[in-house]
Amino acid sequence: MTPIVARTREELAQARSKTEGTLALVPTMGALHEGHLSLMRQARRSADAVAVSVFVNPLQFGPGEDFDRYPRTFAADLEACAAEGVDLVFAPTREVMYPGEPQVTIKSGPMGEVVEGAARPGHFDGMLTVVLKLLNLVRPDVAIFGEKDAQQLAMIRRMVADLNVPVEIVGAPTVREPDGLALSSRNRYLSVPERRTALALARALRAGADALASGPDAVLAAARAVLAEAEAAEPPLALDYLVLVDPSTFTEITGPHAGRAVLAVAGRVGATHLIDNLPLDFGKEH
Ligand code: PAF
Repeated sequence: MTPIVARTREELAQARSKTEGTLALVPTMGALHEGHLSLMRQARRSADAVAVSVFVNPLQFGPGEDFDRYPRTFAADLEACAAEGVDLVFAPTREVMYPGEPQVTIKSGPMGEVVEGAARPGHFDGMLTVVLKLLNLVRPDVAIFGEKDAQQLAMIRRMVADLNVPVEIVGAPTVREPDGLALSSRNRYLSVPERRTALALARALRAGADALASGPDAVLAAARAVLAEAEAAEPPLALDYLVLVDPSTFTEITGPHAGRAVLAVAGRVGATHLIDNLPLDFGKEH
């Protein structure tokens, strides 16, 4: 079944008036891969109908980032949506989403300035602004986001709570290649040697998880050791951060800790910015 494709707000409103029962939205920037397909399957389990949005949001890219070269593969994306039985694809142009220069945007607050927000200033303001616009336009009952972007997911949950947005936010687990590399639309930028170096992110997280029983310092030390090798490799990893954070505030955990945490890592290999994370549970205090 080919999904209905809405390009304008009018087409979206018309298509939306025809959807029956509850609706789950999967917001994407296209270049769909198996990770997105798992979000669509989660959407199908969460609601009667499934919508996917495809929009490369200029507001969340900083100067010098990859907005211009971000992969745009709409024909293949539409095929993937059709194969997953998606009911509605909203694929607006820039003019539809931003008819004029936006004057009022979302400010992501303190969580938007730490970890990935510190590495990419303004990124989370732009991301939250487009997510709120998509939620207002599509009016889903449920919206699905990947846990691979753990800080993004935490910030969307916070925005929805703080601004009383009437939608349920559901997170879906990260999908990985058999060798551990987290799926990302940006993986297609990587050459074979770059991909080899990039694998260090997932390996570092696993090494950290293996040291869980010894506490936060041991987790960070084990992950750092793997990353240090990748920083010395050819091509090298340019590490942006490795942090252990609280899953809902993204404040750094220093010293002993009890309960849940996220081990998050990011870096560049060549010109490609990659992020990954692993949820951890320290149980009783370490
Ligand atoms: O995760 C993404 O692909 C984007 O940040 C999102 C949520 C679609 C907003 O542009």
